[in-house]
Parts: sequence; C-alpha cells; structure tokens
Amino acid sequence: MHDPDAAYDADPATPKPRRYAELAERVRGLVAGEPDAIANLANVAAELGAWLPDLNWVGFYLLKDGGLVVGPFQGRPACTRIALGRGVCGAAAATGAPQLVPDVGAFPGHIACDARSRSELVLPIRHRGAVVAVLDLDSPRLARFDDEDLAGLEAVVAAFAPAIDWVRATRT
Ligand code: SME
Repeated sequence: MHDPDAAYDADPATPKPRRYAELAERVRGLVAGEPDAIANLANVAAELGAWLPDLNWVGFYLLKDGGLVVGPFQGRPACTRIALGRGVCGAAAATGAPQLVPDVGAFPGHIACDARSRSELVLPIRHRGAVVAVLDLDSPRLARFDDEDLAGLEAVVAAFAPAIDWVRATRT
C-alpha cells in the first residue's frame, strides 16, 4: 500500500508532467503480468484515486453492446448505463476525442451522477483502433483539469491499456 504522505500532490515543486510520468510507471507496473481485466481496471482506478487530488469520482465505462456500462471505479455509485453520444462520457466514446470540461454546468447534456462534480475529463481508450472504454475523472472543483492533465493522463492510459484484455472486459 502507499505511504499516504507520499501522495501525488505532496510535492507541488515537482512539475505536473513529471508526476504523471511517475504515475504512468506505477500503473504500468500494477497491471504487468496480470491477465484479469477487471482486477487490473480496479487497481488502476484505485491508483488514480489515491494519487490524484481533488477528485470525487474516477473510473471506467466499458463499451458493451453499443452502449457504455460502468466498470471499476472509485467514488459514489454512478449511472450504470450511458448511451453513446449522451453526456461527457458518451461524447468521448462516440467521437473518440477526449473531453475536457472546465464547467460541467455549461456542457449540454452533462449527466449529473454525483451532484458534487463541477469539472470533468474523459479520455477514450482504444483497442485495435476502436473505442472500447472511457476513463472518466470528475472533480468537485471548477476547472480542475488542464492540458497538462490531459497529456499526462493520455500517457497514463498508454501505460496500462495495452496490457488489458479488452475483449474480456467488454464482454456482456
Ligand atoms: N458526468 C458523466 C457521467 C458519469 S459520472 O460523472 C461518473 C457524463 O456526463 O457522462
């Protein structure tokens, strides 16, 4: 387990890109050698929840039968299913483009699973070219995420996603 004193934001002097590079190595190591997709996604969600400050929800929605179904996450219970194109997660999955939303109140169709969420970042995850899941991060703070968070989390996704058995993870 982590030393809670060594949290992600314990040393604000460390530049954000470097902190994300360290986080990417942590998640790469977490999933290495483990074939079980749910175990790996659960541990990645827990790792991100433990290391990223100011989040009220972090986890996965998996693309199953043409819609998103909630996967392993940290936070309060969330919407079980989200249709493609609906909300921030559905927009990321439908367009394949990351969604950086500084104010969820201003995002048309935002789905308020947790009323505390004020800003949100959603990254699509691809396997063999197709979107198979999204990584969703919610914060109670307005404009919590910036371009450095987006770039850093893209590197984090690139570190663990190739090791995930997405066929199994998205099986209904
Ligand atoms: N707010 C998201 C729904 C998922 S929850 O925040 C966990 C959306 O609009 O897609």
